[in-house]
Amino acid sequence: MSLIKSNIAEEFDAFSKNYREDMITVVPHYEALLSAFLQAVPADRHIDSVLDVGCGNGIVTDLLLTRYADAHYTLLDASKEMLDICRKRFAQYQVDYVQSYFSDYAFPESSYDLVVAGFSLHHCHADEKQQLYQKIHQSLQSGGCLVMSDLFISKSDEDHPALLEEWKSHTLSHDATGEKWAWLSEHYDAFDSPDNLQDVSVWLQQAGFSKIDIVWQQGHWINLKATK
Ligand SMILES: C[S@@+](CC[C@H](N)C(=O)[O-])C[C@H]1O[C@@H](n2cnc3c(N)ncnc32)[C@H](O)[C@@H]1O
Repeated sequence: MSLIKSNIAEEFDAFSKNYREDMITVVPHYEALLSAFLQAVPADRHIDSVLDVGCGNGIVTDLLLTRYADAHYTLLDASKEMLDICRKRFAQYQVDYVQSYFSDYAFPESSYDLVVAGFSLHHCHADEKQQLYQKIHQSLQSGGCLVMSDLFISKSDEDHPALLEEWKSHTLSHDATGEKWAWLSEHYDAFDSPDNLQDVSVWLQQAGFSKIDIVWQQGHWINLKATK
């Protein structure tokens, strides 16, 4: 019997129940990659407006709120359950919620100081990623930046089998039953489409980003900042 749902929205509706613990189990370096968002965000820039692409349960926005409590946040995700969690979590803050696939979202021109994407853009195929980088670039104000934490390796890369072995060891060290690894393997085949850092860097430059910094890296797990 399949362990996964039929589309990404339903997949993350189901995954929302025990989100943080499950992410720590199935994503190596998850907490370090989260903390890197605060390292990446420019200390010298006033942040008024933030877009969280694939906000999930709001874990990245929650971190940003510790520094930018008065900013306006837009949380974009296809999963209704994830957005419902965010609505409860951020009731006292200035937050708009958009339930939409990334490809259907009308990114407003020159609007955001900061766009964050935590473990969300690897769900998009290469073409969609390239289009999204362009839309994100256009939606940023001058000097604004895109910050992403994610996996950056193509499934066809020669290092990919070794990555899978390390990943499996990590997941089994948190869940010896093997259930999470079984779920993750199926999820990864169906929903995940990571690309190599080199390709992503080229696409970001083609989208118009002038500066790309690696903020945190452990192997192919990376926090990257692209500045407009
Ligand atoms: C792995 S979770 C990451 C959540 C959170 N940003 C974090 O750092 O833990 C990916 C989220 O992106 C959303 N997502 C993935 N692909 C999407 C798409 N094409 N359109 C809209 N939402 C998408 C999923 O519903 C899910 O909530």
